[in-house]
Amino acid sequence: MNIISAIQEMQSLALSLKREGKTIAFVPTMGFLHEGHASLLREGRRLGDVLVLSIFVNPIQFGQNEDLERYPRDMERDCRIARECGTDIVFTPEAAGMYPPGFQTSIRVRELSLPLCGASRPGHFDGVATVVTKLFNMVQPDVALFGNKDYQQLAVIRRMTHDLNLPVRVIGMPIVREADGLAMSSRNSYLSPVERRSALCLSRAIRLVRERFAGGEHSASTLLAAARELITAEPAAVIDYLELRDSASLAPVDLVSDTTLLALAVKIGTTRLIDNTVLGDTP
Ligand code: PAJ
Repeated sequence: MNIISAIQEMQSLALSLKREGKTIAFVPTMGFLHEGHASLLREGRRLGDVLVLSIFVNPIQFGQNEDLERYPRDMERDCRIARECGTDIVFTPEAAGMYPPGFQTSIRVRELSLPLCGASRPGHFDGVATVVTKLFNMVQPDVALFGNKDYQQLAVIRRMTHDLNLPVRVIGMPIVREADGLAMSSRNSYLSPVERRSALCLSRAIRLVRERFAGGEHSASTLLAAARELITAEPAAVIDYLELRDSASLAPVDLVSDTTLLALAVKIGTTRLIDNTVLGDTP
């Protein structure tokens, strides 16, 4: 496994691999890898001749009062997991090289970036879209893998890839959960043991809404009220958003269907967690 931090070196290597006719599969991450990331790497291993993982905690997608400084990092462990998943290249660019003095370009996917996480984290998806475009140009992937865990992020990246004619096939992968239902996230490492138990209210709310929907309840307001009640019963939990939206356009819905997205963000203490489900999908 090759570890590359120089941007020029990554891009030259990618271009020469392409000239040799090799296909490149790419998994962009911010590191502190868990089984969710590993599932993307394993699928990437199947889909490309060369598998590239990037680890970059992207400063421009963090807001002023967010956790950029304390975002968890463990390069040694990440490299072990990457190797176990058959990664060929770990790309670890530095912020100074990504955003040198004078940098002033931004990619914005207008409508899809506005609701949900975009409303709570202004500018977040511009930061994501911009860094993913840059990473695509550096790594030259044929296929790139993203998790449904960050559902709106995936929607933004699909839209951007299509709108800008980027020659990359974007693959969405299922949410990987802990045995008790908590969606895996690097940020779960912030949770104290008590908070870790409170955090189960997100996946429980999802399960409740799925059950009520399967039982014939189609009113968005009724379903949301039930989910809200479950979450607010948890003292440590504060709802950031809890919404039912069309899974393609992200427009709000009054009556839910198989293609409705339930998306939520909840603060457990100081840790903001997100989760989601599309009601017609197998969980
Ligand atoms: P990060 O949070 O490290 O996630 C990297 C990729 O792993 C994303 O595509 C995310 O959706 C996926 N992932 C995270 N948890 C998952 C889970 N439990 N199950 C399945 N997939 C999961 O998302 C980012 O980094 C950044 O915004 C990035 C795209 C790298 C741009 O900076």
